[in-house]
Amino acid sequence: MDRFHISGPTPLIGRVCASGAKNAALPALAASLLTDEPVTLYRVPRVRDLRTMRRLLDCLGVGSEEREVRGPEGNADPQRPADASPADPKRPESPVTRPETALVLQRTRPSASTDAPYELVKTMRASVLVLGPLLARYGFARVSLPGGCAIGVRPIDQHLKGLAALGADVKLAGGYVETRASRLTGARFRFDLPTVTGTENLLLAACLARGTTVLENCAREPEVADLARLLNAMGARISGAGGDTVVVDGVDGLGGAAHRVIPDRIEGGTYLIGAAITGGDVLLEQANAADLAPLLDKLAEVGVEIEVSPAGIRARAPAGDGSLRARDVATAPHPGFPTDLQAQYMALMTRATGTSTIRETVFENRFQHAPELARMGARVHVDGSSARVDGPTELTGAAVMATDLRASACLVLAGVAAAGTTVVHRIYHLDRGYEGMELKLQGLGAHVARVAESMAT
Ligand code: EPU
Repeated sequence: MDRFHISGPTPLIGRVCASGAKNAALPALAASLLTDEPVTLYRVPRVRDLRTMRRLLDCLGVGSEEREVRGPEGNADPQRPADASPADPKRPESPVTRPETALVLQRTRPSASTDAPYELVKTMRASVLVLGPLLARYGFARVSLPGGCAIGVRPIDQHLKGLAALGADVKLAGGYVETRASRLTGARFRFDLPTVTGTENLLLAACLARGTTVLENCAREPEVADLARLLNAMGARISGAGGDTVVVDGVDGLGGAAHRVIPDRIEGGTYLIGAAITGGDVLLEQANAADLAPLLDKLAEVGVEIEVSPAGIRARAPAGDGSLRARDVATAPHPGFPTDLQAQYMALMTRATGTSTIRETVFENRFQHAPELARMGARVHVDGSSARVDGPTELTGAAVMATDLRASACLVLAGVAAAGTTVVHRIYHLDRGYEGMELKLQGLGAHVARVAESMAT
């Protein structure tokens, strides 16, 4: 188990490039189950959750291979922007400059396996995304129930109710969900609450259903819209994705497609908060400012200077100690403040002047970073779904434990801002969703080292 050793405080200064969005790439990979033709995906991040999804697809008969994409002229990616890497002579090159790669997914076995085993599903909830496409394509799917997780109970009842509305027979047996339908039939379905992977599962299923499906109260996250763009490129007929109501006209079959995954707004947002908490100045390249609007608005309220230009999003911390202002936040489904940035924002509030209240409305147990921040000197009081932060605090280095992906990012940022040495244990959580985080932070001037357990003293 690796850990991070961080020496601080260091202001994060420079430019950093967002990787592809983990939560957009995961359903995009699942979409490859819907066709026999190759699906080529660009900007898939090299993170553990994507490796897990590739292993799962492999079990289900879809192989995947990374291929290098050659230079701008020979670039096979039709969607790659001409200004993909804007040069700024005043700033050093971003450290994570690997050659552009494409991930090509294609069915390798003629006979489908429709069984997603517990061993894989238990390590990653997003495995449930194979349920919709397997059912739509093969009329049967057996997927292990994902169970609980560190950030709450997270049921999948909405996924199952939605599939049942399309005519599937849904049974729970031996820890598995079994779904069956000779062919799904379009229907009107309203989610009881907006769910991101639930909406994605239903889109993946409905595009091969007979007739029209109308989904209401859908999740409006940009990752849902990105999946619909891929599916439409494969021949699906989906309109309204990214809005509350999505209409899917079923088709008889889907073909291959090439698609470029959107930049990771959560990863990018993490580095912008990193600039703010360390008194730094970061230009985030390849980011979509509209997708990050709730965070950018909040950072501006806190006193961070935000500048959006064709080169990217620049976040500059205000000059002088104690010049950040405490501001309340409540997480909400998109376009509200993302729950996936709540932990990082809490770290920021420890450095702001005044008292802030952070309300978590999406997940019921997502404050596990609070006691760890307290070990670094933060004054955080958790009461049910709210946390009160009194600031500013001079954070000091300590040994802390990462408990989930975003909690890990919060502790790493706090470590860069803290005086002395911080050791963040259980970095495997971070590796699920942040590509080369220590390299990107080093490129911004931070003193962060990954230490393997066997080497740690
Ligand atoms: N919910 C239900 N029933 C369902 C589905 C969801 O009650 O059938 C509840 C959940 O328990 C939760 C709320 O609805 O309280 C929203 O959950 P949602 O289904 O939207 O979450 P998810 O699809 O499981 C995705 C991301 C999460 C992110 C959430 C919220 C992926 C692979 N995961 O999860 O990402 O926090 O949406 O935006 O897209 C992360 O990347 O760190 C992460 C946890």
